[in-house]
Amino acid sequence: MGAISDAISPSTKPKRLINLLRGWPNTSLLPTHLIDRASHKVLTNKGTAYPGMLYGADPGDPRLRKSLAAWLGEFYKPPDPIPEERITITGGASQNLACLLQVFTDPVFTRNVWIISPSYFLAFRIFDDSGFHHKLRAVPEDDEGIDIEFLKRNIKESEDKAKSDGNDSPHLKPKRPWGKIFRHVIYAVPTFSNPSSKTMTLRRREELVRVAREFDALIITDDVYDFLQWPASLTPQDLFLGKTILPRIVDIDRYLDGGAERIGADGFGNAASNGSFSKICGPGLRTGWIEGTKKMAHGVSQVGSSRSGGAPSQLTATFVAETLDNGDLQRFVFDVLQPAYCRRYQKILAAINRELVPLGIRLPQADRDVVGGYFIWLTLPKPVKGAVVALRAEATENLIVARGELFEVPGDTEYAHFEHDLRLCFAWEEEEALVEGIERLAKVIRALKDELEGSSGQTMQPATGEGEKDFW
Ligand SMILES: Cc1ncc(COP(=O)(O)O)c(C=O)c1O
Repeated sequence: MGAISDAISPSTKPKRLINLLRGWPNTSLLPTHLIDRASHKVLTNKGTAYPGMLYGADPGDPRLRKSLAAWLGEFYKPPDPIPEERITITGGASQNLACLLQVFTDPVFTRNVWIISPSYFLAFRIFDDSGFHHKLRAVPEDDEGIDIEFLKRNIKESEDKAKSDGNDSPHLKPKRPWGKIFRHVIYAVPTFSNPSSKTMTLRRREELVRVAREFDALIITDDVYDFLQWPASLTPQDLFLGKTILPRIVDIDRYLDGGAERIGADGFGNAASNGSFSKICGPGLRTGWIEGTKKMAHGVSQVGSSRSGGAPSQLTATFVAETLDNGDLQRFVFDVLQPAYCRRYQKILAAINRELVPLGIRLPQADRDVVGGYFIWLTLPKPVKGAVVALRAEATENLIVARGELFEVPGDTEYAHFEHDLRLCFAWEEEEALVEGIERLAKVIRALKDELEGSSGQTMQPATGEGEKDFW
């Protein structure tokens, strides 16, 4: 018995992997039992099984649109109910970002895609695929969620340049009655952002809608974390979290200054909200929704791939509709997910305050009442670099963290660069591993700081990004 265990001393045993990069839900937070029950119910009744197994309607499963409209109305509490015509079922936020670009942009006429930065890095390729590789522009995120003056200045310059170049009509996309081509796209994650975890203030949301109207921009928001919210304070608070803390940008566009359908406007509005069941049910469902004006929701439902095949994810949409209709999913989100993510957040945050803050690490928007989402953004004390920490953490501690540069807009890093930052995800790892992950990170940063104080530069080359993909 003793011989083998004696041979492997604790110091030579490899540490188990802790991955704080991956932005997935932990498997314990997947409601497989609810989908099991819902799918059984759908598939054992011909009235629901056949529509689920056949091609669906362009705007998606009518039952899901109806129950979603009701639930979103209860959660976001707009002044009027949400009619189901404002909603189209999608294959999730990523898939629908691609569809929105197909219907509403032209890679020549559309001048730029303005991306609040640091940004959700997996969106970059979706913009690339639609021809925007050389047109991506970073807009710095400040403490209110966007440097709006920067955007105003730069979008105006871009517009002036397009005018002087004579770029005044769509080049590649024909005119379609269900669509329009916007001059600009603005991409944001306004609530509990990935990666920064920041929430954009109400006044910035309003200003952003005004800028979008002035410059004929479509604001595409990924509102995928809105339901995952909890009180920031460790002491219990009397906050009702069954309702949003702020209106979405799409809600603001619906009502501000006469609303999206005001007289004289074309009725498409300037905002599209990408919702998703990935974070509140399971990403494998590949099911989500878009909300916008009726014209916007209809327009995206007319993308060629939906005209041919009907809305994506038809069968899983029918399962989700069942879980919403019987109230299972709503209860799961509020009674299971919110408390579970709150607990995870509080554990990791307490460890950060204990282990990392004394080392000079800072967190954004420290004074919020309500926080949420999947991520924590850390700014390291200079000259410690995120890429060096990430490399060293993997090599010496078997700990995976995301270096800030991953979230920089390719080709536009002058005003938004993140070489001294890290992103941590507290959703994927086992709950017990979160504190240990922070302790390992503190060890790495402490050692690096000591080395830096004793020498003139970084002691390791930054990570190149190769191999990171294995941990996404
Ligand atoms: C901001 C943001 N958008 C989109 C997605 C992906 O959403 P979906 O699974 O619905 O495509 C994620 C997931 O990490 C995300 O953080």
